[in-house]
Amino acid sequence: MQQQTNYSNELSGKIALVTGGTKGAGKAIAERLKAAGATVVITARNKPDQADPDLYFVPADLSKRGAADSVAKATLERYGRLDILINNLGGSETPAGGFAALNDEHWESTISTNLLAPVRLDRAFLPQMLENGNGVIIHIASIQGRLPLYDATLPYAAAKAGLINYSKGLAKEVTSKGLRVLTVSPGWIKTENVKYFLERIARSSNSSIEEAQQSVIAALGGIPYGRPAEPEEVAELVGFLASPRAKYLSGSEFVIDGGTIPTI
Ligand SMILES: NC(=O)c1ccc[n+]([C@@H]2O[C@H](COP(=O)([O-])OP(=O)(O)OC[C@H]3O[C@@H](n4cnc5c(N)ncnc54)[C@H](OP(=O)(O)O)[C@@H]3O)[C@@H](O)[C@H]2O)c1
Repeated sequence: MQQQTNYSNELSGKIALVTGGTKGAGKAIAERLKAAGATVVITARNKPDQADPDLYFVPADLSKRGAADSVAKATLERYGRLDILINNLGGSETPAGGFAALNDEHWESTISTNLLAPVRLDRAFLPQMLENGNGVIIHIASIQGRLPLYDATLPYAAAKAGLINYSKGLAKEVTSKGLRVLTVSPGWIKTENVKYFLERIARSSNSSIEEAQQSVIAALGGIPYGRPAEPEEVAELVGFLASPRAKYLSGSEFVIDGGTIPTI
């Protein structure tokens, strides 16, 4: 999707970090922050397919203890500070089959990636951000934090619910010290990985990609908007929340799901 908006360099001079910034929503967020003038650091386990010299890549497996400290060290040694921290990394790799299909390892690895990784990264950057007295931390959660799907992704849903709760608590602690802490909870996002997932469903059920997409939408109970979000639509919300235009916003959760969640 083409971004035509002029962001007036509103993030010029800001240093931002986006975890999982090589693919999907994280890539779109990194590009959106860059378009607004920020200097952007991205992390992932593997190098991006196409290196962008304007995005400084720090390799790290953030599900592992100690990795957050290395990312903070690399960022602070290079740029001296961080202003915007986007904890975007997350996902689920657990098998289908409900509670009985899940062992301790499934639970622990999902909680490490989706809850402990952001907690550790925040803890690594917070002393410097508090010393600066301003900054923004955004946690990318999921509508599953309020709308758990039990068949294959319950550890993910529980970890995201924990992330939403933690984000609120952190906002309570640090907003009076100049930091804003926010949560963005997307519904279904049509990332590259989702496109491959739809192709797999279509092949295995001998249906079209459109039919495969409709079957996933039906499993979510419908998306009133009629389609998943584009990564750039999520990035646009994050770009706004990271900007000075959102200066009074802290401690809130923003759901971006095309109307999927059926309750208030
Ligand atoms: N896609 C959706 O429908 C959807 C819906 C609701 C919420 N969300 C949330 O939105 C966020 C982005 O999701 P996405 O679907 O855009 O992600 P994605 O396309 O699967 O990309 C994940 C990114 O995280 C990196 N990553 C994965 N495991 C990592 C690890 N252990 N350490 C460091 N980096 C790691 C990946 O690179 P490497 O593999 O190279 O490490 C990649 O850059 C996540 O928090 C997700 O839970 C997504």
